[in-house]
Amino acid sequence: MGVITVIASGKGGVGKSTVAAGLGLALADRKRRVLLIDCDAGLGSLDLMLGVAEQKAFDLSDVVSGRVEPAGAVYACPFAQGLFLLPAPVSQEDVVSPGIMKQLVQAFARYYDHILIDCPAGVGSGFRSAAAAAQRALVVANPDPVCLRNSNKTRILLEQLGISQQRLVINRFSGRNFRLQGYFPDLDSVIDRAGVRLIAVVPEDPLLAAAAAKSAQAPQKSPGALALARLAARLEGEQVPLGPLQKF
Ligand SMILES: Nc1ncnc2c1ncn2[C@@H]1O[C@H](COP(=O)(O)OP(=O)(O)OP(=O)(O)O)[C@@H](O)[C@H]1O
Ligand SMILES: [Mg+2]
Repeated sequence: MGVITVIASGKGGVGKSTVAAGLGLALADRKRRVLLIDCDAGLGSLDLMLGVAEQKAFDLSDVVSGRVEPAGAVYACPFAQGLFLLPAPVSQEDVVSPGIMKQLVQAFARYYDHILIDCPAGVGSGFRSAAAAAQRALVVANPDPVCLRNSNKTRILLEQLGISQQRLVINRFSGRNFRLQGYFPDLDSVIDRAGVRLIAVVPEDPLLAAAAAKSAQAPQKSPGALALARLAARLEGEQVPLGPLQKF
């Protein structure tokens, strides 16, 4: 059975989908079979990031309505062997209920090593459905006070949904900006504010952003891709250091 991980944030635009896509690619590089499920009904972006937008004929809502069998809405990423996407419903009206989502994801889990579920922004019904089947959560946050307040709220909601295994991914970290902004004296204060144990620091990396926008994989030596490769290893239980933060 695959491990089911939801990628949440509360606040929108912090990089959930970029992290989800990059983590999926990093796990596929480790020869894992990975299914990404895009739960951002109406605003999904993973089909573009993973280069399946052109071939996409069905999505999550078609599976739920029975218009297509589950495997018929799963698309292989053309540039990463082992990575697959179940695209988000086209309409915001088509949020799937938590109960159905749970059944569906559990059925898929038999065929993959990892299921990564990308949440929509906010903590509404889409978030609850995305989290319904998850065994663990990655809470993505940018290192600023507004975002971290939302992370803390998200942590509490995830706990209420029964997801106690949570890890923090600090995304878009730049040492220079961190010092200039002076919101926090150090990373420990960031982690304390979120209230979630840290698992990765992903740097601000234009190559990572550009790769996602161009439906491509970031160069493996780019700082963002390296951080996501370390995150993939840590998620699989390897003892890997966080990485050279001073360089970010
Ligand atoms: N590590 C990074 N370095 C540079 N840019 C990044 C990084 N992560 C994300 N971005 C940029 O931040 C923006 C938002 O990213 P993304 O769409 O992944 O966020 P999101 O949390 O999924 O948003 P939403 O809540 O709307 O779904 C994008 O322009 C993306 O390219
Ligand atoms: Mg997103």
